[in-house]
Amino acid sequence: MDADGLLLTSNTRLDGELLRRARKLRAVSTVSVGLDHIDLEAARERGIAVTTTPVLSDAVADLVLGLMIMLTRRLPEAARAVTSGRWSEMGLANDLGGKALLLVGFGRIGQEVARRSLACKMRVSYWDRRDDLPRIDGVERELDFEEGLREADFISLHVDLNSSTLHLIGSKELELMKPTAYLVNTARGAVIDQGALRQALAEGQIAGAGLDVLDEEPPLPSEPLLREPRAIVLPHVGSATVETRAAMLELGIDNLLRCLRGDPGLHAVVDPR
Ligand code: DGY
Repeated sequence: MDADGLLLTSNTRLDGELLRRARKLRAVSTVSVGLDHIDLEAARERGIAVTTTPVLSDAVADLVLGLMIMLTRRLPEAARAVTSGRWSEMGLANDLGGKALLLVGFGRIGQEVARRSLACKMRVSYWDRRDDLPRIDGVERELDFEEGLREADFISLHVDLNSSTLHLIGSKELELMKPTAYLVNTARGAVIDQGALRQALAEGQIAGAGLDVLDEEPPLPSEPLLREPRAIVLPHVGSATVETRAAMLELGIDNLLRCLRGDPGLHAVVDPR
């Protein structure tokens, strides 16, 4: 590869070997907020700038609200009742208001989910390992992760995928959750141990899951979660709106050009200058 700069999305994996072979490469601009597809250590070693496009928080937060409403109001089931001629047979659902939401990760996206959820009269708390986070009135900090899992009616994941968050939610964590609780993942599939989630859903250990991401994308047609009635699975569409993708692309191009000129890229994660 003899490129000076690369513009890519999270669908393209940039591993250490490729980065070490790309002798001329000076800048990598990813049109995504997630970075797990890039070997950042290798980029640092090689002095390659890496930038992201964190302008998708509203779009992803909207989707989280959409998933929570779909789950608690049983909307997929209600729509199926109509198409299968059972208009009058749909049972009652539950309100979002008054329910406890635990945000796992309180970065930009988690904060936007908090704002929307407060407007829906939910009780909102967050758990995050970082200390330098903004305060939002009405949002409590949960210091004890396990306690937060035990008490929540909804758990929404907003952490990067890295070695400390891989399978952050596994069978032990799923067991702590209420049988009436829902898990929402718009972050990265591998933050959840997908095998453990399959089992928890099949056994009715939790009420359901809203998943915009899976550990393998696209999933194999045989993936059991695709047929699990308690799961709503979406094809990684968190940022997939015309407005958001246009803003991401514009920022991604701007970042690449800036880095190639030797200026700081906006939202640089690796800045070798
Ligand atoms: C992101 O930007 O990381 C979104 O998940 C799309 O990959």
